[in-house]
Amino acid sequence: MAAQAKQLEFVHSSQFTTPVAEEYAAELLDFAGKNFAGGCVYFTCGGSESVETALKLARQYQVESGQARRYQVISREQSYHGSTLGALSVSGNKRRREMYVPMVREFAHVAYPYCYRCAFECTDGCRNCGQEYAAELEKAIEAAYGEVAAFIVEPVSGATLGAAAPPPGYLQSVAKICLRHGVLLIADEVMTGMGRTGRNFAVEYWDVAPDILVTAKGLSSGYAPVGAVLVSKRVADAIADGSGAFLHGFTYNSHPISLAAGRAVLKVLQDRKLVQAADSERPGSTAAALRQALEGLRDAKAVGDVRGIGLLWCGEFVADKATKQPFAPHLNFAGRVAQAAVERGLLVYPMQGCVDGISGDHVLIAPPAVITDEQTDWAVKQLREAIEEVT
Ligand SMILES: Cc1ncc(COP(=O)(O)O)c(C=O)c1O
Repeated sequence: MAAQAKQLEFVHSSQFTTPVAEEYAAELLDFAGKNFAGGCVYFTCGGSESVETALKLARQYQVESGQARRYQVISREQSYHGSTLGALSVSGNKRRREMYVPMVREFAHVAYPYCYRCAFECTDGCRNCGQEYAAELEKAIEAAYGEVAAFIVEPVSGATLGAAAPPPGYLQSVAKICLRHGVLLIADEVMTGMGRTGRNFAVEYWDVAPDILVTAKGLSSGYAPVGAVLVSKRVADAIADGSGAFLHGFTYNSHPISLAAGRAVLKVLQDRKLVQAADSERPGSTAAALRQALEGLRDAKAVGDVRGIGLLWCGEFVADKATKQPFAPHLNFAGRVAQAAVERGLLVYPMQGCVDGISGDHVLIAPPAVITDEQTDWAVKQLREAIEEVT
């Protein structure tokens, strides 16, 4: 970052490109794999800006492809895509959006697979009902009479549902439905990207090829505000061969010093094999130790579920394990667990609303990939004590 600041601190990306932007974009496309070969990257300052960019890009792609009727973006209930009004309009997180609903343009929100509380009451870990959930998307696309431009999805639900991975076959079916209907698939990997789940991007687990992939957070590991929108060749070409210009921009797009931070983080991630460390299925990995330690919390009285993937985990709390009845929201169970954890020196991310948008308590646990096994054991011990104290 210092070297970049000495050389060039800033230019406006509407008129200039920079070596750091070009090199970093090429590295990120490579990191994202063959699906993004020949694609493009649009750099922003974070997740919400990247989601806004992806929504507008999807609309422009459709217009430039002769599909001007397509403007709607379908999303899922119980999702979160950011705080700006466009991102909020496609977010299903009730608590975060309720007050602003009159201000946003709303499109359909479809149901989401949440295996711990499956709407189909299945007993096979949602092996079959993934298809039922995917069918809801198809129905919503058909109900919009050819006006859908894109579907946006968190491959693994982040904060709202708490590290809920999709059932087998669900995302593959979603991708096929989008392709069949000329709808772009936008993967929001703001939380799950850059190795967090034990793959470079979480979509790799299900071999799904999104048209647009949004990432931020771990992209710069906190050293600078950076977000990125990765665009497949098909989408990039439609605009390049059409008007030739994406009608969008923020002054601090592609900020050279921020991009230098992102580049350095990517190098560390690769040199230190941190994605492998974050793979909870890999024997002996950092994430496998976390997984094992967290699984031990299942016997705590208030812990209904422990779920997650890689280094993104969640403990969901219930008042009654047999019926899965949640705590009354006013008790703020998750918030109190987080407070009790802070008092022991541990930070977790408390959330409410996983059951129906209002009730349901959980905490997210997402340590850095450089955590040691001793630190993991210590952290999980503190969490257990915090849960027991609040229970
Ligand atoms: C899945 C997802 N998308 C988008 C965002 C918004 O990102 P930011 O807070 O960087 O604007 C978040 C933030 O938590 C997120 O988890």
